[in-house]
Amino acid sequence: MVVLAASIVTKSGKVVISRQFREIQRSRIEGLLASFPKLTSTGHQHTTVETEHVRYVYQPLEDLFMVLITNRQSNILQDIESLHLFARVVTDTCRSCDERDILNNSFELLFAFDEIISEGYRENVNLSQVKNNTDMESHEEKIQEIIARNKEREAKEELKRRAKQFDLQRKEASKRGQGFMQGNFSNNTMGGRYSPSLEPSAQSMIQTPSYNGRSSTPPASSSKARGMQLGRKPKTADLFEAIKTEVEEPLLRSNRSLPSSASQQKINVHQDSVHVSIEERVSMVANQEGELEQLEVKGVLTLKISDPSLGRIRLALDATDDPAIQFKTHPNVDKNLFKNEKAVQMRDPTRAFPINQNLEVVRWRFISQDETAVPLAITCWPSPAENGTCDVNIEYVLEADHLELHDVVIAIPLPGEPMATVHQVDGTYFVDTQRRVLEWQLPIINSSNKNGLLECTLPGTEASSFFPVMASFVSEKLICGVDVLDVQNLESNSSSTFSKEVLLTTDEYTIG
Ligand SMILES: *[C@@H]1O[C@H](CO)[C@@H](O)[C@H](O)[C@H]1NC(C)=O
Ligand SMILES: *[C@@H]1O[C@H](CO)[C@@H](O)[C@H](O)[C@H]1NC(C)=O
Ligand SMILES: *[C@@H]1O[C@H](CO)[C@@H](O)[C@H](O)[C@H]1NC(C)=O
Ligand SMILES: *[C@@H]1O[C@H](CO)[C@@H](O)[C@H](O)[C@H]1NC(C)=O
Ligand SMILES: *[C@@H]1O[C@H](CO)[C@@H](O)[C@H](O)[C@H]1NC(C)=O
Ligand SMILES: *[C@@H]1O[C@H](CO)[C@@H](O)[C@H](O)[C@H]1NC(C)=O
Ligand SMILES: *[C@@H]1O[C@H](CO)[C@@H](O)[C@H](O)[C@H]1NC(C)=O
Ligand SMILES: *[C@@H]1O[C@H](CO)[C@@H](O)[C@H](O)[C@H]1NC(C)=O
Ligand SMILES: *[C@@H]1O[C@H](CO)[C@@H](O)[C@H](O)[C@H]1NC(C)=O
Repeated sequence: MVVLAASIVTKSGKVVISRQFREIQRSRIEGLLASFPKLTSTGHQHTTVETEHVRYVYQPLEDLFMVLITNRQSNILQDIESLHLFARVVTDTCRSCDERDILNNSFELLFAFDEIISEGYRENVNLSQVKNNTDMESHEEKIQEIIARNKEREAKEELKRRAKQFDLQRKEASKRGQGFMQGNFSNNTMGGRYSPSLEPSAQSMIQTPSYNGRSSTPPASSSKARGMQLGRKPKTADLFEAIKTEVEEPLLRSNRSLPSSASQQKINVHQDSVHVSIEERVSMVANQEGELEQLEVKGVLTLKISDPSLGRIRLALDATDDPAIQFKTHPNVDKNLFKNEKAVQMRDPTRAFPINQNLEVVRWRFISQDETAVPLAITCWPSPAENGTCDVNIEYVLEADHLELHDVVIAIPLPGEPMATVHQVDGTYFVDTQRRVLEWQLPIINSSNKNGLLECTLPGTEASSFFPVMASFVSEKLICGVDVLDVQNLESNSSSTFSKEVLLTTDEYTIG
């Protein structure tokens, strides 16, 4: 039961677009589709035709044909049903089904095709679900592109900021307490901060081999669809990863020896032959009143096996059955086993996981408008005084008791003179004259200090000019609580040792 390809061809057999679901050469598909019109020229109302090796299941789309190429063992009834869904997706996506319109919408169509068939097998979806998924993904993709751009900018700013900090520290040392630095500058700030561009996730993304064995160039967002789309194309999320790699790679490549002990420590983390990394990125947007607008957590479980004898394994997970958390498993992972037993294993249990690759086996996404789901709630209260200053109070509350946040930085814009009179502070603070922000720094927030306050007077008259307040933190405890409890070796039927890395980071965490 395998659908090899879904294609749209002209009456003469010229390919408009084609998506292969199995490893199959471009020339072979072109040949199969070129011979297709000859097979149908008898003019009968059939919807299928067979050759020695394959079966075509087809229906006209105005002047074109929608064709599925399947193997001969495939279930015809199911394929005809799939064909109708493909045709409806096309008519739904394109205004008119002519060649130009189809090419213009080729990306949308290919993404939608991938929702219907995965690795040759039919997904259990209908038209509204396909539309829903592709709409969601393209929306997501746009957001992700923006986040990626912001991250790049932030990474650069972070570098500038560090250079500046070093400079200031040197001045500070020579001037003994006079200068820009105020309060107690935490000694480990320089080394302890996780640099956004040097997180392990960025590393692993670069190490991740191309999903398409044949393609040597990663697809970029700018590579507009032209003509045939052959080979296993990336899904939207992969496309985003590809873009991200492009964005972050130059930053990583340039040889910069940052004194970032944290990230170095992360890179050198010990890895067993079976290594799992569980990562979450949280984004939160709240308004100036501190009311939540959107909270999003995206997680990924990456598996890396470096010993070929350990390819056949099963991971036993802890994953909450919360309907608010959407899980997606890799197409080669047994979906039902994951759903029913929270275990990750190849769909075909006789096959081994690929070796020496970072395999994203499970992804999840959690979206909420529920204030109590916010890990760290931040409220900023600016009240204008008479003389051109504002009294600003900022509070944080750790809503999620079980979390322990590290390297928390809450940055408040300084619209006027970059200076601050701090009356009270839990933790430390730092006026960054370059970026014109007041940084409130908390090395650790856990249930022992779940509330905190910073009271200061800042130059500026407009309350709204002290927004947006931005926060960042890292944690080794996750919001959705996904965990790997055990790794079972399916060959020996015994538990296998494994190493594990867990990291929560902030993507965009803004108030106002
Ligand atoms: C291409 O499709 C987009 C929408 O997907 C539409 O706005 C645009 O007008 C189309 N261009 C042509 C040349 O048909
Ligand atoms: C598609 O499937 C979903 C979930 O199974 C269902 O709620 C919806 O009514 C279906 N839509 C159509 C048009 O059949
Ligand atoms: C569309 O997707 C959203 C989020 O993934 C989900 O909550 C909603 O139920 C879906 N709607 C349909 C009709 O499948
Ligand atoms: C800075 O830290 C020292 C001890 O480490 C303490 O005595 C001093 O009061 C602190 N200064 C401020 C402004 O917090
Ligand atoms: C920073 O470290 C130096 C020596 O390592 C120490 O003397 C100093 O007290 C530390 N300052 C603070 C604020 O912890
Ligand atoms: C990068 O920096 C390290 C240490 O600073 C140095 O040993 C290495 O040769 C540099 N590599 C390149 C490509 O410049
Ligand atoms: C402004 O007034 C506040 C109290 O109303 C006072 O604390 C502050 O020092 C004044 N600032 C300036 C620059 O005069
Ligand atoms: C919170 O962190 C501090 C500093 O690491 C630690 O001393 C304290 O025990 C922690 N509290 C809890 C409840 O884990
Ligand atoms: C594997 O282990 C499970 C439980 O540990 C046991 O029930 C099962 O019989 C074992 N299978 C084989 C083939 O040893």
